[in-house]
Amino acid sequence: MGTTRAAGTAAGGPVITTAEARPKTLPTSALAERAAVVLRDNDTGSLVTASPKLYPHMWSWDAAFIAIGLAQLDIGRAVAELDTLLAAQWSDGMIPHIVFTSATGYFPGPDRWGTDAAPQRPRHVRTSGICQPPVHAIAIRRIVDVARRTSRVDAALAEGFAARVWQRLYRWHRWIIRYRIVDASGLVAIVHGWESGMDNSPRWDEPYSRVVPGTNLPPYARLDVLRVDDPAERPSDDDYDRYLWLIEQLRGVNYEPEAVVNTSDFLVADTFATALFALASDVLAELGEELACDRDQVAELRQWAARARRAVALSCRPDTGMAADRDIRYGNWIATPTLAGFSPLLCGGAGDRAEAALLSTLDGPDWSGHPDLFAAVVPSVSPCARRFDQRRYWRGPQWPVLAWLFSWAFARRGWTAQAARLREQGLRLTADGSFGEYYEPFTGSPLGSTNQSWTAAVVLDWLASEWPSAL
Ligand code: SER
Repeated sequence: MGTTRAAGTAAGGPVITTAEARPKTLPTSALAERAAVVLRDNDTGSLVTASPKLYPHMWSWDAAFIAIGLAQLDIGRAVAELDTLLAAQWSDGMIPHIVFTSATGYFPGPDRWGTDAAPQRPRHVRTSGICQPPVHAIAIRRIVDVARRTSRVDAALAEGFAARVWQRLYRWHRWIIRYRIVDASGLVAIVHGWESGMDNSPRWDEPYSRVVPGTNLPPYARLDVLRVDDPAERPSDDDYDRYLWLIEQLRGVNYEPEAVVNTSDFLVADTFATALFALASDVLAELGEELACDRDQVAELRQWAARARRAVALSCRPDTGMAADRDIRYGNWIATPTLAGFSPLLCGGAGDRAEAALLSTLDGPDWSGHPDLFAAVVPSVSPCARRFDQRRYWRGPQWPVLAWLFSWAFARRGWTAQAARLREQGLRLTADGSFGEYYEPFTGSPLGSTNQSWTAAVVLDWLASEWPSAL
């Protein structure tokens, strides 16, 4: 990357820097070829690790997006990826956020999670004891759609798989309804920032400020900071103390789902997870109708989707129209400007005027339309926000996988032009073929891990010829 220069200071915001040299752009065919190589190189046989060094295991929502990319290469392999994840489903229905491989280079590993004593855990594999956003039905939808366009054999394989695992997905969604709708907001609650997938987002600053690690927190050594170029791209040590403290709390109640909600010092209603739950519940119901699954369960899924959509709409702040989270422990709304504010655009329910206003905020100068962005992809935090940090994980960088999620949801909602633009800009961001985990918004440089599987996967999907008009 070239030398940086100051590009301006947003009113009340941070100093923004841009690089003079821009990342290289690979031709489309070379980009697709490299993306396929990343997925093959990260494939252990039964699962594709989230990344080669930083994340040598399977992560729940990563696996869903990875399967979407694999579907462009081999439907059978895509199906196998989700089978590996679903085989690790806990007996109560929870899909765990990490399925561990035998690799040792990640902390916290299975011993620190200590889920071995939890009666609901799977017997054949070790996992973490929390979950991640429920995007899996979306992956199955995409795999079925891709397969139907490739061959009859693929279509039969994908549909057979969807019918076979539909019940598992239903039980996963029922687990969320049973154990994670815990306050009047009707939003899906999380008991650890890692459950949101957006670990150190400023969304969680306030709730985490109230989590006070005990003096009996067992000692530990971080490995993540050794695997990136600059530790400033990762969460802070204080963040990690809190993450590890919450694990101690959850472990203390043996990951029993009701006790977890009663115990964790972090209990937050997550509007983004709720929007994904609404969207995925609708998608699962739709698949259930196509595959002639249990009608009563399909009807339940529709009801859950409708309730979740309403909860997201009700979380919108009257001044900005953006969706907010709610700190359940302390009873206050959290309206920090992050991309989670755009949740209603994923699942609908806020009404046409509110959605039009949100779409124009999304495209506007505080977000994707910020004049200094390398690519017009929504950053994780507004560049004009006080807490924006352009290099640190979920505090400002752009995440291609989230751009894919919005582009797919927009295409599904019939917003073809917006979907096409997001795809085009997402490909601009990722065209250097490094497949960064996330990107510095002004320079377009990759940050965190490179050869990140889910980035390669969504690029492969974007490059598929039918995108997005025929989704
Ligand atoms: N994203 C987490 C990590 O950074 C865990 O879910 O390790």
